[in-house]
Amino acid sequence: MTKTQTKISDAPVLEIRNLNQRFGGLTAVADFNVRLQKNELSGLIGPNGAGKTTIFNLVSGFYQPSEGEIFVAGQPTAGLKPHKITALGVARTFQNIRLWNDMTVLDNIRVAQHYRLGYGFFHSIARSRHYVQREAEIAQEAAELLEIFDLQRYANETPGNLPYGTQRKLEIARALSIHPQLLLLDEPAAGLNSSDIQELIRLIRWIHTKFDVCIWMIEHHMDVMMELCTQIKVIDFGQTIAEGVPEKVRNDPAVMTAYLGDDVI
Ligand SMILES: Nc1ncnc2c1ncn2[C@@H]1O[C@H](COP(=O)(O)OP(=O)(O)O)[C@@H](O)[C@H]1O
Ligand SMILES: [Mg+2]
Repeated sequence: MTKTQTKISDAPVLEIRNLNQRFGGLTAVADFNVRLQKNELSGLIGPNGAGKTTIFNLVSGFYQPSEGEIFVAGQPTAGLKPHKITALGVARTFQNIRLWNDMTVLDNIRVAQHYRLGYGFFHSIARSRHYVQREAEIAQEAAELLEIFDLQRYANETPGNLPYGTQRKLEIARALSIHPQLLLLDEPAAGLNSSDIQELIRLIRWIHTKFDVCIWMIEHHMDVMMELCTQIKVIDFGQTIAEGVPEKVRNDPAVMTAYLGDDVI
């Protein structure tokens, strides 16, 4: 192996090179780059409309980039559909919670696990012995996840009936059910009250150690980012305007200007 080659196992969990996304005449993401290593807990901030969610949509395969490359654990994701990217170990939550409201809380987790296992239509029709055995394991693991997230009492309810903070927690539990190596959290504190936010901070820190997962999060609550992240990138109109440790980013004049008139920082 030459010096310039990287073993896949040594590759960053996520690498984005020169990412650009245009929607008609609008450049939503301009020449964005990032490398996230195993076990990193990193942040992405910027004013509304800066392009943050678009970057997550590109990483999770909802959009194909206008230009640039994305690698998950060294593997290029160009052309891959979202479920294939999930199978590579990329899980996410959404700025506006997206749970399956016509299923129970338990089934929300069980169904998500199928993405990891890659069960196809014929597999479920055939109901092979292997399939039945795996179904039992899935049910067991889903029940365990609900228990460690203290959600077991809601197992047979539909998500829409749960308090908002609990729905956010369920969405995170569901994301973890695919055993991700990269967890993308899009504004997990949005809509939460201050005690829920304190609980969320503890939850994310606990997940980060317990699940051995790289976490990349978007969040407007600067106190959440200051508490959790070791590195933060700031974008504005798709352009990266600052990056570094939270303290440095918070005091960066370019960041203050971007947020001027906005009271989030
Ligand atoms: N599917 C889309 N079609 C057209 N424009 C879009 C689409 N998705 C996002 N945009 C635009 O891209 C810009 C960035 O949006 P977004 O990534 O959601 O910002 P943020 O998450 O930072 O608030 C916005 O101007 C938004 O209107
Ligand atoms: Mg957004």
